[in-house]
This record gives sequence, structure tokens and C-alpha cells, in this order.
Amino acid sequence: MSPQPRWTKSTLIFGGAALWGAVLVGCVMVNRTMLAPPAIPGAALVGNKQCAECHEEQTARASSATHAKVALAQDPKLGPTSCEACHGPGSLHVKAGGSKGTIINPQKNSETCFSCHLDKRGTFMLSNSHQVLNGKMSCGDCHDPHEGNALKGSGASIENEIETCTKCHTAQKGPFVFVHNAMKEGCTACHNPHGSVNAKMLLARDANLCLRCHLQTTSTNGTIFAGGEDHRTRLQGGTCWIAGCHETIHGSYSSKPLRY
Ligand code: HEC
Ligand code: HEC
Ligand code: HEC
Ligand code: HEC
Ligand code: HEC
Ligand code: HEC
Ligand code: HEC
Repeated sequence: MSPQPRWTKSTLIFGGAALWGAVLVGCVMVNRTMLAPPAIPGAALVGNKQCAECHEEQTARASSATHAKVALAQDPKLGPTSCEACHGPGSLHVKAGGSKGTIINPQKNSETCFSCHLDKRGTFMLSNSHQVLNGKMSCGDCHDPHEGNALKGSGASIENEIETCTKCHTAQKGPFVFVHNAMKEGCTACHNPHGSVNAKMLLARDANLCLRCHLQTTSTNGTIFAGGEDHRTRLQGGTCWIAGCHETIHGSYSSKPLRY
């Protein structure tokens, strides 16, 4: 039996998880103190310059990243330490010449992200959510933290958000003959991809979802209009997207008012 610890992937992930939350390390970004970054037993910080020697691709894009501003240490010899904020201290990984199991890969374990974004764990626990907590999906399916605002694709544009979602949700991709112009605002105009108490991760479960953009007006005789039509009796039937109403809410191949 060897007394040497062996760094397997699971000892790292679980060993690290047990330490998170137990240790409070000063981790500062623009005057904001956060919970501890992930820990790797026996490893020390080495700084971004070391990572850059072997991981040019991630490093080259990182200057624009929000997370590039996260600092774990103020030691001027190390320089920036933002890579290790998510991947854990890198000395063992570097010493091993970069073998797997010596560094954390958040694609396999979203706990890394929760160590700073604790609120997101609660959102993903809501009854309607993507399956991140059970490991079937990961934050990395929608986020690329190595660049910009971390939404996948480059930059911060809504096109990138839509592309991220429709890579998996091809039915919502179109191109439709009659597209609902709400789609120009992105999927998050109606859904919270982190989770919601409402079915289909909707931001609201009733007509209020639609009325945020489609003003409801009341004329002198009390008629309720939405989209220029009299919806007085229709709205009593329930939500706007029930069968027989606006069923093709993302876009339609045959109905301009998005009904079938
Ligand atoms: C000496 C070169 C070298 C240095 C320095 C290095 N890495 Fe690596 N790294 C590698 C190699 C090689 C792999 C791929 C291992 C494999 O595929 O088996 C790797 C893999 C990884 C992985 C993926 C691990 C997995 O389980 O999928 C991450 C994350 C990573 N490195 C982050 C870092 C960070 C952060 C730093 C700086 C602290 C760093 N690396 C420094 C060579 C290096
Ligand atoms: C905010 C968290 C975060 C920071 C900061 C971060 N990474 Fe990552 N890293 C991730 C996630 C999530 C993944 C898995 C998804 C992906 O590959 O984009 C990953 C994956 C990797 C991989 C493995 C790629 C592969 O193809 O398997 C390497 C190598 C890596 N990061 C290096 C770096 C380096 C170098 C830095 C610093 C410049 C850095 N990371 C900063 C979150 C982060
Ligand atoms: C299904 C796709 C998806 C998954 C999975 C996902 N996100 Fe997001 N996330 C988004 C989108 C889209 C936005 C932009 C939301 C907006 O602009 O309103 C976002 C925004 C954010 C933001 C910034 C705004 C805010 O709400 O604070 C943070 C932080 C964040 N996500 C963290 C996470 C973490 C941590 C995980 C994993 C536990 C995760 N996300 C998983 C799609 C996703
Ligand atoms: C060491 C702490 C730390 C870790 C670990 C971390 N983040 Fe962050 N993240 C931050 C800080 C600080 C911000 C800046 C916004 C803020 O103040 O909340 C941020 C911002 C974000 C944003 C919004 C970016 C923007 O420009 O609006 C997203 C998305 C995000 N994080 C996703 C992730 C994901 C996914 C992971 C795991 C791979 C992760 N973060 C891990 C500290 C962290
Ligand atoms: C990596 C693939 C993937 C990506 C990217 C993705 N999703 Fe999903 N999404 C899924 C899977 C798988 C399910 C089914 C989850 C389940 O059954 O628990 C789902 C479910 C949903 C549902 C609920 C459907 C239902 O039947 O309840 C909505 C709404 C949704 N996603 C919206 C989004 C949005 C918005 C984005 C982009 C911000 C996004 N998704 C990105 C894979 C993905
Ligand atoms: C105008 C609001 C709105 C926008 C914008 C929107 N959705 Fe939806 N989405 C809905 C409503 C309402 C439902 C519920 C429809 C139903 O139950 O038939 C829904 C349902 C879904 C479902 C579940 C479909 C099913 O068959 O169960 C998915 C997946 C989905 N949306 C993905 C997306 C994606 C991806 C985007 C962006 C490309 C998007 N949505 C943009 C309102 C919207
Ligand atoms: C983010 C804003 C937004 C939201 C939320 C929204 N819409 Fe729209 N909708 C628009 C815009 C913009 C148009 C096109 C301009 C117009 O005709 O007012 C439009 C057009 C429509 C049309 C008319 C299509 C046509 O050309 O005849 C219908 C029907 C419609 N929306 C139904 C809904 C329903 C139902 C919901 C709720 C599930 C909803 N909308 C939510 C922005 C939105």
C-alpha cells in the first residue's frame, strides 16, 4: 500500500466539495467579497502566467472576460490568479505536466460555480429547471466563462443567447414564416433558463407574461383590447397560449396571429 495520495478525479471533486463553504478566503472583485473558490488539497496558487504556457486558447480570449477581474491573491509575484478561481490552485497540475484529475473541470461539476454564485443553486432547485443539479447538464452548456459576459458565443448580443438555446431547442429556431417579434428580445424575454416556479420556466404563468409587451387598454364601454382585438371573453378562458388561441407562440408557418 502506498502512503502517497493518489489524485483521482473523484477524490478531487469530493475532497474539494467538502472544503468549499468550510473555508472563507478573501476573494475580491471590485470591492465585492465572496465565498471561497474551489480547493484542491495540497495544491497552491501559481497564477495565470503558468496556465498560459500550455492553454493559449483559453488565455488569449480571457482578457475580455468578466471573470478575468476575479482575484484570489494580491501577491505581485503571481500576477492575476483568475484561472484558479474556477479551476482551483494549479501547482499539482503544473508539476504533473498537466494531467487530468489534478485540476477541476467545472464542465463536470457545477459546484465550482455555486461556490461564488450561491443564489443560482436555489433557482435551479425550483420545480421547473434545466437538469444541472443532477449533473445531466452543466453551467458550461450555456456559459463560456473564458470570454466576455460568459454567454456562449462571443460578445454580449441577444443573437448569441438565442443561438445558445436553439442549439438544443431546434423547434424554436425557425426560420418561421410568421415570427413572433418578441423573439428579437431573446428567449429570456419569457423564460428564466435557471429555473422558475411556473411550467416551462416561464416568467409568469398567465396573461401577464404577454401583457408586459402587449398593453391592455380599456375603452369607454369597458372593452378589453390586446393586440387591437376584443379579448374580453377570450382571456376568461385562461392563458393566451392554450389550445385554440396563440398556440405557436414562438412563430408559425401558416398563421400570422400565431394560432396554429
Ligand atoms: C505544463 C503544461 C500545463 C500547464 C502549465 C497547465 N496545464 Fe492544464 N492541462 C495540460 C494538459 C496536457 C491537459 C490535458 C490532460 C489530458 O487530456 O489528459 C490539461 C488539462 C487541463 C484542464 C482539463 C481537465 C479535465 O479534467 O478535463 C483544465 C481545466 C486545465 N488544464 C486548467 C489549467 C489551469 C487553470 C492551469 C494554470 C493553473 C493549467 N491548466 C496549467 C497542461 C498544462
Ligand atoms: C468563471 C470560471 C472559469 C474561469 C475564471 C476560467 N475557467 Fe476554464 N473552464 C471553465 C468551465 C465552465 C469549463 C468547461 C466548459 C468549457 O470548456 O468552456 C472550463 C474549461 C477549461 C479547460 C478545458 C477545456 C477543454 O476543452 O476541456 C481549460 C484548459 C481551461 N478551462 C483553462 C482556463 C484558463 C487557462 C483560465 C484562465 C485564463 C480559465 N480556464 C479560467 C470555467 C472557468
Ligand atoms: C440553459 C442555459 C443556462 C444554464 C444551464 C445556466 N445559465 Fe446562467 N444564464 C443563462 C442566460 C441566457 C443568462 C442571461 C440572462 C439574461 O440576460 O437575463 C444567464 C445569466 C447568468 C448570470 C448573470 C445574471 C444573473 O442572473 O445573475 C449568472 C451569474 C449565471 N447565469 C450563472 C449561472 C450558473 C452558476 C449556472 C450553473 C449552476 C448557470 N448560470 C447555468 C443561461 C443559462
Ligand atoms: C471566485 C468566484 C467566482 C466563481 C468560482 C465563478 N464566478 Fe461567475 N462571477 C463572479 C463575479 C465576481 C462576477 C461579477 C458579477 C457579480 O458581481 O456578481 C461573476 C459574473 C458571472 C456572470 C455574469 C457575467 C456578466 O458579465 O454579466 C456569469 C454568467 C457567471 N459569473 C457565470 C459563472 C459560471 C458558469 C461559473 C462556473 C463555471 C462561475 N461564474 C464561477 C465570481 C465567480
Ligand atoms: C445543452 C442543451 C440545452 C441548452 C443549451 C438549452 N436547453 Fe432548454 N432544455 C434542455 C433539455 C434536455 C430540456 C428538458 C429538461 C427536462 O426534461 O427536465 C430543456 C427544457 C427547456 C424548457 C422547458 C420545456 C418543458 O417541457 O418544460 C425550456 C422553456 C427551455 N429548456 C428553454 C431554454 C432556453 C431559454 C435556453 C437558452 C438560454 C435553453 N433552454 C438552453 C436542453 C437544453
Ligand atoms: C413571447 C414569449 C416567449 C419567448 C420570447 C420564447 N418563448 Fe418559449 N415558450 C413560451 C410559452 C408561452 C411557452 C408555453 C407553450 C406551451 O405550453 O405550449 C413556451 C414553451 C417553450 C418550450 C417548451 C415547448 C414544449 O413543447 O413543451 C421550449 C423548449 C421553449 N419555449 C424554448 C424557447 C426558446 C429556445 C426561446 C428563444 C429562442 C423561446 N422559447 C422564446 C413563450 C416564449
Ligand atoms: C418582449 C415583448 C413581447 C412579449 C413578452 C410578447 N410579445 Fe407578442 N409581440 C411582440 C412584438 C414586438 C410583436 C410585433 C409588433 C406588434 O404587432 O405589436 C408581437 C406580436 C404578437 C402577435 C401578432 C402577430 C401578428 O403579426 O399578427 C401576437 C398574436 C402576439 N404577439 C401574441 C403574444 C402572446 C400570446 C404573448 C404571451 C405568451 C406575447 N405575444 C408576448 C412582443 C412581445
